[in-house]
Amino acid sequence: MPAAWSPESWRSKPIVQVPDYPDLAALRDVEGKLAKFPPLVFANEVLALKTKLARVSEGRSFLFQGGDCAESFKEHSANNIRDYFRVFLQSALVMTFAGGMPVVKIGRIAGQFAKPRSSNIEKRDGLELPSYRGDIINGFDFTPEARIPDPQRQLEAYRQSAATLNFLRAFLQGGFASLQNVNRWALDFMKDRPIEASYEKLASEIGRTLEIMKALGIDESNTRELVSTDFYTSHEALLLGYEQAMTRRDEVMGSGRYFDTSAHMIWIGDRTRQPDHAHVEFCRGVANPIGLKCGPSLEPSGLLQLIDLLNPTNEAGRLTLICRFGSDKVEKHLPALIRAVEAEGRKVVWSCDPMHGNTITATTGHKTRPFQRVKEEVERFFTIHRAEGTHAGGVHLEMTGQNVTECTGGAVQIVDEDLARSYETLCDPRLNAEQSLEIAFLVADLLKLERDGRGQRDAAVATAAAE
Ligand code: PEP
Ligand code: CO
Repeated sequence: MPAAWSPESWRSKPIVQVPDYPDLAALRDVEGKLAKFPPLVFANEVLALKTKLARVSEGRSFLFQGGDCAESFKEHSANNIRDYFRVFLQSALVMTFAGGMPVVKIGRIAGQFAKPRSSNIEKRDGLELPSYRGDIINGFDFTPEARIPDPQRQLEAYRQSAATLNFLRAFLQGGFASLQNVNRWALDFMKDRPIEASYEKLASEIGRTLEIMKALGIDESNTRELVSTDFYTSHEALLLGYEQAMTRRDEVMGSGRYFDTSAHMIWIGDRTRQPDHAHVEFCRGVANPIGLKCGPSLEPSGLLQLIDLLNPTNEAGRLTLICRFGSDKVEKHLPALIRAVEAEGRKVVWSCDPMHGNTITATTGHKTRPFQRVKEEVERFFTIHRAEGTHAGGVHLEMTGQNVTECTGGAVQIVDEDLARSYETLCDPRLNAEQSLEIAFLVADLLKLERDGRGQRDAAVATAAAE
């Protein structure tokens, strides 16, 4: 039996990936202020997301999670948010219609600031400084002043998260995400691009479906799904002082449970998932859906131990396993994890992060991800689930609406020499709008294959039963 949980019980546990704040009094002061600020999300929204994720774990929906590796103060603008949301919704539309599955939509946005690092220090030209840990902690500039962790940054991160979420909610309410709108932009966006042909057929099918529905009396005036959609936020729960300050006991709906109100969903990173450490301790006590990054060092027994801690009541929708092995390692590691989870009857969502195991250094020195490897990891993830008879439940992407050149390959064939042209990320390389859509089409094809396979299995079972 684990000991009693409280929002601060993580503080007595070992912890890694924490900043060294020089001014602890200022840190306490900021955490006190944050604790009095309004929550960013409401308990019932969080529970609604959990119900949707439960449907994913049962094989009835698909999860699409994506956004920046790290949001930044500098790139915070209306256009950036709008462009991101547009490509996110377009990709979700492709998965929904071409894949034939309801899609649960979760952004890596409105709070995705804190970053785990492989080293505490960064060296450049003989100078050694603390690593950049995300705008919520310190500055990106390579100067001693910028790299000092500054608690005031948490207030700015809260402000930016609130403004971003407010803007997204306004878009959702105002009709920006209507099916017709998203379909129209997709047509405009893909015009004369290599992926145009893939979309044309789908767009005309969507148009035809809308016409038939209208003839049946189903239209924007009476059907919410045609006017808007549900969109949720998520980030890595890394900076635990901030997460604790945003954690509130639900009095309004009377559940009495604690919710981390900084986002609908939070996840535990691959570097901070030690079962006896602070990050697992914090996450086990909040009622939000939790993601757990699963990398090559996670053994089946270790995974089961973490599932016991994070989801002791085996609640569907509570836990999403975000697998990030690398295209060359997924076949070695994933089947054993699936078998262990299935053998114990644990309810989880299996999601594929094809980004974090496929990062390499390009000939130009840039951190990049070859698009071919990203694609291959997604394909192999689906193939493995088909073989195991389990549901490939989701994808988790680092993506942006901007036309960046950060990942090589794709239909527009970005090569190493192109990387310098528009390399904007402060952390990991992201898929650009076109590359994100290519993954969406791939996912749609793979979802269709999964459905066909399921149909064949069901038919075989029915035949066997009839004989
Ligand atoms: C991330 O999602 O940005 C990240 C750091 O992932 P991981 O913990 O899987 O390395
Ligand atoms: Co990343």
